[in-house]
Amino acid sequence: MTFAALKTIHQKNYKNMKVTVVGAGAVGASCAEYIAIKNFASEVVLLDIKEGFAEGKAMDLMQTASLNGFDTKITGSTSDYSKTAGSDICVITSGIPRKPGMTREELIGINAGIVKSVSASLIEHSPNTIIIVVSNPMDTMTYLVHKTTGLPKNRIIGMGGALDSARFKYRLAEALEAPISDVDGMVIGGHSDKGMVPLTAHATRNSIKVSEFLSEERLNQVKEDTKVGGATLTKLLGTSAWYAPGAAVSGLVQAIACDQKKMFPCSALLDGEYGLNDLCIGVPVILGSNGIENIVEIDLSDAEKAHLAASAEGVKKTNGLLEL
Ligand code: 2OP
Repeated sequence: MTFAALKTIHQKNYKNMKVTVVGAGAVGASCAEYIAIKNFASEVVLLDIKEGFAEGKAMDLMQTASLNGFDTKITGSTSDYSKTAGSDICVITSGIPRKPGMTREELIGINAGIVKSVSASLIEHSPNTIIIVVSNPMDTMTYLVHKTTGLPKNRIIGMGGALDSARFKYRLAEALEAPISDVDGMVIGGHSDKGMVPLTAHATRNSIKVSEFLSEERLNQVKEDTKVGGATLTKLLGTSAWYAPGAAVSGLVQAIACDQKKMFPCSALLDGEYGLNDLCIGVPVILGSNGIENIVEIDLSDAEKAHLAASAEGVKKTNGLLEL
């Protein structure tokens, strides 16, 4: 088969991807925009409960197609889940965002009911879909989707660590006075101001450990700034951030849609990995067409293991607030 023909088939596979994003608010719409601009999905459906809102956002985004050069077809619907039928990937961003001074955990009362109802409606029309949960408190909402849908555990993914790692890299580059493209780092643990575990010992600047360049004191400041990255923006913006969350989700969607086998920290249901059971929390996973292809167990220091265990306790405490 000629390369051109192979490329066409490859491109065709990339194109036959339907993605639904529930919640056309700032995060959902940003996610849809980044997916479209990356041009790997044939169709994105935006859904919202507010009359006309998703339709308007979809139309506005489609009017950027000729400007941003994408072929993806974005449509909007007001609560008509039939329009989401046959979605390969569904992203749940619906629910209320936090206000300044709030923790993500305080959203559970309202968001749990929304996420439970939304996930059931999505699966009714797309029984084979992969679900990515963004709504907060995200680790607990991801656990809720596992407990209420019974989908195979590889097809339910929580997005938090990809966002937290992006903020970690931002803070590391700031401290190093280096371009972000030179920096790599990962945050695992719960997606909460106290539960995040930035892996400073693993972080690098162009393959060199960052501890070669930064003092322990400065690295601790990077860790603390990373943990409150969301709260810092909520204080400045008066609501939760949306550009980086939307971009982080789009990276997970692309890895699944294009079967990239890329590693991300994602909230995954653990069954003994890292010595943890019966909770969803941020750990390194490989994402591909099956969703979570596998969970990667990396060596952690005793301090990192202790931080992860404490983070897991915090997530389980929030899970305990669910009425399952
Ligand atoms: C954040 O950290 C919305 O939880 C998300 O910005």
